[in-house]
Amino acid sequence: MSARDSVFSDELLRALAGASSVAVLTGAGVSAESGVPTFRDPGGLWSRFRPEELASFDAFLNNPELVWEWYEHRRKVIRSVAPNPGHFALAEMETMYPDFTLITQNVDGLHRRAGSKAVVELHGNIERSFCIACKSPWSPRADESLSGAPLCSCGGRIRPEVVWFGESLPAAAVRDAWAAAGRCGAFLTIGTSGEVYPAAQLPSVAREGGAYVAEINPRRSSIAHRVHECIEASSGVALPVLVEQLRKLRLSA
Ligand code: OAD
Repeated sequence: MSARDSVFSDELLRALAGASSVAVLTGAGVSAESGVPTFRDPGGLWSRFRPEELASFDAFLNNPELVWEWYEHRRKVIRSVAPNPGHFALAEMETMYPDFTLITQNVDGLHRRAGSKAVVELHGNIERSFCIACKSPWSPRADESLSGAPLCSCGGRIRPEVVWFGESLPAAAVRDAWAAAGRCGAFLTIGTSGEVYPAAQLPSVAREGGAYVAEINPRRSSIAHRVHECIEASSGVALPVLVEQLRKLRLSA
């Protein structure tokens, strides 16, 4: 795809050019081109690992060392990669609107590293940790070399600040995400399979609130039938083209 051959409908471009409030929902697919594995694609994390052994509170209590090691491994992968053109395009899009909210299911922090500021992290952030006993935030001391799952100074176990299966989403993130989806004039759902709720409800919330809703994903997701338009392309290719077209539209307006 190049900037010349538009795959975006006039309706989408009009909605994005005319909106003062825009919201975006991203999933693991937006980080795929950075080299971060997704969950449900062929070869994805959930085809190689069992979520019930690694991503639930019971799993953590049963085997904290294994769960901590798995998150350490994922942190190392994430630290070794960089944001891709899709992340940077979304950061640029934010500067075009007075009200722009980037709602992400990703815990990798790549949106912020690309420069996005109005980020709502629905599933937490893998770089943050806290004590399950006293709830204090935790980070390793600079001189500390970690081997194995750490303990808090109170003796409690330290866990990553990510949402596990069976857990509630952070209340403030839910409030901000639902408010942004409800008030926006255009909504993009990008790189998510739409398999995990409540996040997968957001495109419908936006549509019911009157927004024009489009999906960007190389394969139609399980919520594709709920959006106005599907752009079957990778986010690292489609988003820079979309932002360039929007910039031109705004310059000529
Ligand atoms: P999934 O792995 O379920 O879905 C990834 C989606 O990205 C798929 O629909 C792919 O087609 C799409 N995709 C792959 N490459 C892409 C690319 N280059 N550009 C755009 N899209 C691409 O990931 P999520 O939907 O994010 O939860 O999964 C939701 C939640 O399930 C995750 O947040 C995680 C997981 O269990 C928690 O950790 C709480």
